Amino acid sequence: MIFWRVKPLNQILETAEKKSLKRQLGALQLTLLGIGAVIGTGIFVLTAEAGQKAGPGMMLAFVIAAIVCALAALAYAELAAMVPVSGSAYTYTYGVLGELIAWIVGWALGLEYGIGAAVVCVGWSGYMNGLLRANDIALPEFLRTGYFAGGGFDLLAFLIGLAVTVLLVIGTSKSARVNAVLVAVKIVALTVFIFLAIPAVKSSNFEPFLPGGWGNPLGGAGVLGAAASIFFAYVGFDAVSTAAEETKNPNRNIPIGLIGSLTVCTIFYLLVGYGAAGSVGAQPMLGANGLPLDPGTPAMAAACAGSEALVCSKEPLAHVMRLLGHNRIGDWIGIAAILALPSVILMMMFGQTRIFFTMSRDGLLPDALSKVHSRFHTPHVITILTGVVVSICAALFPVGKLADTSNSGTLLAFAMVSIGVLILRKQQPERARPFRTPFAWIVCPLAVAGCLLLFINLSMTAKIVFVTWAAIGLVLYSAYGYRRSQLANQNA
Ligand code: ALA
Repeated sequence: MIFWRVKPLNQILETAEKKSLKRQLGALQLTLLGIGAVIGTGIFVLTAEAGQKAGPGMMLAFVIAAIVCALAALAYAELAAMVPVSGSAYTYTYGVLGELIAWIVGWALGLEYGIGAAVVCVGWSGYMNGLLRANDIALPEFLRTGYFAGGGFDLLAFLIGLAVTVLLVIGTSKSARVNAVLVAVKIVALTVFIFLAIPAVKSSNFEPFLPGGWGNPLGGAGVLGAAASIFFAYVGFDAVSTAAEETKNPNRNIPIGLIGSLTVCTIFYLLVGYGAAGSVGAQPMLGANGLPLDPGTPAMAAACAGSEALVCSKEPLAHVMRLLGHNRIGDWIGIAAILALPSVILMMMFGQTRIFFTMSRDGLLPDALSKVHSRFHTPHVITILTGVVVSICAALFPVGKLADTSNSGTLLAFAMVSIGVLILRKQQPERARPFRTPFAWIVCPLAVAGCLLLFINLSMTAKIVFVTWAAIGLVLYSAYGYRRSQLANQNA
């Protein structure tokens, strides 16, 4: 059936064999790679969002999101080790579930990485504005918050987005050494936070523990709504599985790297969440109906005006330190975030451009997008297009809604990868699998169920954007990709 045309795995693998990379990464390097890609806006910024939805119960949200990620990571690792080529979930699905599903996954990954980059831009701006304000050089309020978050134009989020775009166009890539330094900066900042916040914890701050309940049928609230948002804090671990081709003994080291980095991050996140909620309290701002207000809305912005509550802060970890009287440390935590977050933006935007680049090379998006710059040798057209859209989104929209939207794309990709593992086990049981998902027939269905649970609990805005984005994607596919696909023309 042509509609379901599949790009044979052998054909995909031939591409990889042409450029074989040296197997040099061990378990420790992989774990560091994972931690470097994972720790970012999620813990530094979305902690406030999670507190607004779940109150101190946000700690449960961290655990739920971590479990879903761990299940998906185990599935991801099997395909990543079997098909160690660029393009990640898009490429895997092209080889297993066929072109239409691959298109949807690639299109959804565009949402994940593109909007994900915007999330981190807004997070960076929150810390930069906080640092400027703490040192009496604040920008006007209108330029500190996006229009749809109750402000005007988030200037710094816009500018950091453009700055990273320029770096990507001129071909900056992250070196392993820079990554190691930034991992150290993030770990030190979170460790200092934990050591100063935990001694200040008071049990009264955990009452009530679940002010927002578990959730509601429309999503976007309670512990499950917080888990759906804070899921963003774990995204990025797939960087480990995409390094499968460069890993020594991948069967052993890939799962250690994936599960190791997720475990380290989960422990840090729980301790940070416990310290933040327990030391200064994380009770939500309530609306007239007695329920927590929806974060990122003008009503929330109005309720937060002049408030010192944790859930209102755009730089929550620095804010907690300042509330506890550690002003200088608050500044230093801000500086750590300001230094470390741009590399997460870079990684996300890089991911977005490379997915669309691969899709364009496969004929599913116009050729013009995969044009490579004659001097810089980078796909400048798609990079500039992505960078401008990301920067505008970052300047206008609230961080939590952007994170939820990015998560919608990620959850779809994770679910498809988990289904792909099972289909391939049936279709090609004899194919070599350097890493096998343990108990795949239990782990993969649980991963799909977990992704579905979190998807349902995303905010309504994110679900609407997701459906609209998917519909635009399907129209584009039927009008363009379906006919122009390299694979279709090669089979014709
Ligand atoms: N997990 C990454 C972050 O929180 C994307 O910024």
